[in-house]
Amino acid sequence: MTASEPPTSARVLAREVERRRTFAIISHPDAGKTTLTEKLLLFGGALREAGAVRARRANRHAASDWLELEKQRGISVSSSVMHFEHEGFRVNILDTPGHKDFSEDTADSAVMLIDAAKGVEPQTRKLFEVCRMRGIPIFTFVNKMDRMGREPLDLMGEIEEVLGIDAVPVNWPVGAGKDFRGVYDRVQGKLMLFSGGEHGKKLLDQTDIEGALGSEAVSEALGVFAREVEESLELLDGAGAAFDLEKVQAGTQTPMFFGSALTNFGVLPFLERFLQLAPHPGARPSDRGPIDPVDHGFSGFVFKIQANMDPDHRDRIAFLRVCSGRFAKGASSTHVRTGKTLRLANSTLLMGKEREEVEEAYPGDVVGLFDPGVFRIGDTVSDEGGFAYAGIPSFSPECFARVEVAAVLKRKALEKGLEQLVQEGAVQLFTEPGAGSASMYLGAMGQLQFDVMSHRLKGEYGVELSLTPMDFKLARWPQGEFDPEIFRYSERIKVVEDRDGRPVLLAKGDWDLDRVVQKHPELRLSETANPALLEASH
Ligand code: G4P
Repeated sequence: MTASEPPTSARVLAREVERRRTFAIISHPDAGKTTLTEKLLLFGGALREAGAVRARRANRHAASDWLELEKQRGISVSSSVMHFEHEGFRVNILDTPGHKDFSEDTADSAVMLIDAAKGVEPQTRKLFEVCRMRGIPIFTFVNKMDRMGREPLDLMGEIEEVLGIDAVPVNWPVGAGKDFRGVYDRVQGKLMLFSGGEHGKKLLDQTDIEGALGSEAVSEALGVFAREVEESLELLDGAGAAFDLEKVQAGTQTPMFFGSALTNFGVLPFLERFLQLAPHPGARPSDRGPIDPVDHGFSGFVFKIQANMDPDHRDRIAFLRVCSGRFAKGASSTHVRTGKTLRLANSTLLMGKEREEVEEAYPGDVVGLFDPGVFRIGDTVSDEGGFAYAGIPSFSPECFARVEVAAVLKRKALEKGLEQLVQEGAVQLFTEPGAGSASMYLGAMGQLQFDVMSHRLKGEYGVELSLTPMDFKLARWPQGEFDPEIFRYSERIKVVEDRDGRPVLLAKGDWDLDRVVQKHPELRLSETANPALLEASH
């Protein structure tokens, strides 16, 4: 670089993009996401002590009362972003909560964490679908190998069958349960044996033995496990799909790893191969075509809004993923939906509850911006303006309830609270056309989101939320011309409006929708409010 070149030249930007890995961990509660995250942070030196993520989680509960619910449910509801450096890579982990959130829409790849004893569980499956829809690479980590679980081949078969994706083991476990000794890397022809260490407290020593399977050194080190491992691997070589990086990148093949987050067996071998194979931030689809991370000035989109993170200050934080160019604190940029100029002051990077000021950020990074009330989920911020990212489609809720307002004393506070919390995106608000706020309905992916909403309305706005469950199961957005009159007398279909005044059909089941489509073949129904965005993201 010559002295005259600015420090943020395209070359610096390209290098920063190339070394970034932004991923989400998708799993069912209890599979070990917290434990794995903690171990990854330890390798990156972002944590000095194991147990700190858990401790931080516990502190957060103390600090904010609604998070108490998380503790009771044992489910992580709030979301944060963690980052660390490892061997020249900058790693961003998006902490996806146990329920539907939008972090998967933001990640460049996903790590699917599976409990070796339980296999593919419902929540994993749901989150997997979101990742598959976006076509992002999915890496599988089979956890809890220190316990007797299911046979590795059996788990592979389940992934292929249930998820419909080829699973290709990058490494293979040597032993299981208390005899889990190590992993054999099939690609590198390297055996890694673990030893020593206090369980989970310290990074374990790892012995690497180079040599193909069947070589003297490897066979000797494998000891009694030699035959077993050799047989499995022969089987895989003969019958399994061959590793294909292109297929991995297209999300049709998942590289599989085995380990134990708790005892720290297999985490480092996983991390290192993952960092090599996972993609760096690439071009993102927008309504003006793909936006390359290096060829454009700063841009990003808001994927999450959280109100009242700090109970002492009624603040809202908009989480923005940087997609192109360099983010600089204090610079001005354009809020594309409104055309307003924004000053990107007060940018924080969040690590658990602690806030860290960010001076600059690059594509793949997430910054938290103080939100004076202008942001909505999916909003684009861009120096160039003129394009909007194909952001977050709002999915059809599966659980609906009526807000009972008659008995509410603090109606204004209820409306304000609902309006603000709904902006966070986990719960959608619908109203009955013409009935004003007298008839409000909430829709979410599950009951948990309603519980969180009630808890927070009470804690943060001082109002009791009274809900009556409704037996609707689906929401569909009619596209194009639509006459609500045709459903006026229908008992099984209800027409409501979303926050943007778009008509929405609530239906009790697929059967009802099939009938609607048969009777009104001219109707085009979409599962999301903004199907154009969904198409553009493919
Ligand atoms: P989550 O975030 O996915 O919900 O899971 P979390 O890491 O909290 O782990 C859930 C439980 O599984 C914890 O036990 C944790 O210690 C255990 N666990 C995680 N990884 C492994 C592993 O590799 N092997 C074994 N044997 N256990 C593992 P807990 O008893 O519920 O909590 P704690 O008392 O250990 O904190």
